[in-house]
Amino acid sequence: MSVAYDRGELDSYAEDAVRRIADAPDLAAVDRVGTEVLGKRSLLALAHRSLGTLDPEDRKSAGKHLNDIRAQLEAALESRRAVLGEADQRRRLVAERLDLTEVLPGRRRGHLHLVSRTQAELEDTFVGMGFEVAEGPEAESDWYNFEALNIPPDHPARGMWDTFYLELGDPGAVLLRTHTSPVQVRLLESRQLPIYAVMPGKCYRRDTADARHLPVFHQIEGLVVDRGTSFADLAGTIETFTNAYFGSAIHARLRPAYFPFTEPSAEFEITCTICRGSGCHTCSGSGWIELGGCGMVDPAVFDALHIDPEEWTGFAFGFGIDRLVQMRYGLADLRVLTENDIRFLTQV
Ligand code: PHE
Repeated sequence: MSVAYDRGELDSYAEDAVRRIADAPDLAAVDRVGTEVLGKRSLLALAHRSLGTLDPEDRKSAGKHLNDIRAQLEAALESRRAVLGEADQRRRLVAERLDLTEVLPGRRRGHLHLVSRTQAELEDTFVGMGFEVAEGPEAESDWYNFEALNIPPDHPARGMWDTFYLELGDPGAVLLRTHTSPVQVRLLESRQLPIYAVMPGKCYRRDTADARHLPVFHQIEGLVVDRGTSFADLAGTIETFTNAYFGSAIHARLRPAYFPFTEPSAEFEITCTICRGSGCHTCSGSGWIELGGCGMVDPAVFDALHIDPEEWTGFAFGFGIDRLVQMRYGLADLRVLTENDIRFLTQV
C-alpha cells in the first residue's frame, strides 16, 4: 500500500498521536501507542515510503516534515514514560511500605525468633528424656572455659577456639565463652551426682560471619555423670534425641575426633535433613551433616573437680543450634538469622 504525502493529513495525525500518548494510562499502553504511531505500519512510515514519488525539491521539505513529526512523537512518548514511571515508583513505595510501628488489632504483634524457638524445642525434647536445663554466664574466666576442661595455657588445642578476651582483671583472665562446656564444670562443681543436664546458650568466637559461621552463635551442651555410664549410653542418647527431634528417618553416626576434655572423643553427624541422606548441595554430597562434638568425660576433668573417676563416669556432647536451624529450615546463608529483615522474620 502506498500513501501519498499529505501535509495537512499528517499534521492532524501527529496532533491526534500526541493526544493519545498523553492519555495512555500506563507504561504498557504507552508502548502500544508508540508502536501504532511510529511503527512499520503507521501512517508516518507509509508516507515516508512514498517520498520517492515526489520531485526532489518537495521530497526534501516533506522528508524534513516527517522527521520533525517523528521527533515530536518520540519526545511525547519519552515524557509520558517519565511521568508514568515516577507515579509507578511512588505507588510502589506506598504499596510496599512497612510500618514497623503499626499495631493491627486482633493480630499477634510478634513471635519468638527462630533460634529461641528451636532452643525451646530442644530443651523440651531433652526434658522429655529426663534431663534438667541449666545455664551459665557468657562472660567466663579462663579457668572455666579452658583450664578446668584440661586445656592449660599454651595448650595447642586452644587454637580450636578463637577467643574474644575482655578487659577485665588480669590480661587474658576473662573472656566471652567460646562454647557451653564451661557450664559442665559449674554443674560438676556445685551439684550432687548423678547429673543429667542440658545447657543451652550463646557462645562467641572470633570468626568472620559467612554462610555457615556467626561470631555469636548458640550451642546446647549435654552432660551425664552417673555410676557405670558407658560409651554405648552416649551413642544411644544421641540416637534417641535425633529420633525424638527429627523423626525416625534421620540417623546419627559418630566419627573419631579429639577434644581435651573427653576421651574417647567423637564428632557426631546426622543424616542430612534436606536430602534425607541421598546427597545434596548443603551436605556436599555426603548425605551427612556434622552437628557437634561429644565423648566420655576425661578423668583429668574429674580430677580437677575432686570427683572420683573410679566411682563416676560420664559423657558430654555439645552442638550448634544455629546450624541445626539452618538445616531444618534450609537456610542457604546463616546471616539471615541476625539481619532482622522483617520479611524473613514474619515468614518463619
Ligand atoms: N565444646 C566443644 C566445642 O564447642 C564440643 C564438645 C562438647 C565436645 C562436649 C565434646 C563434649 O567444640
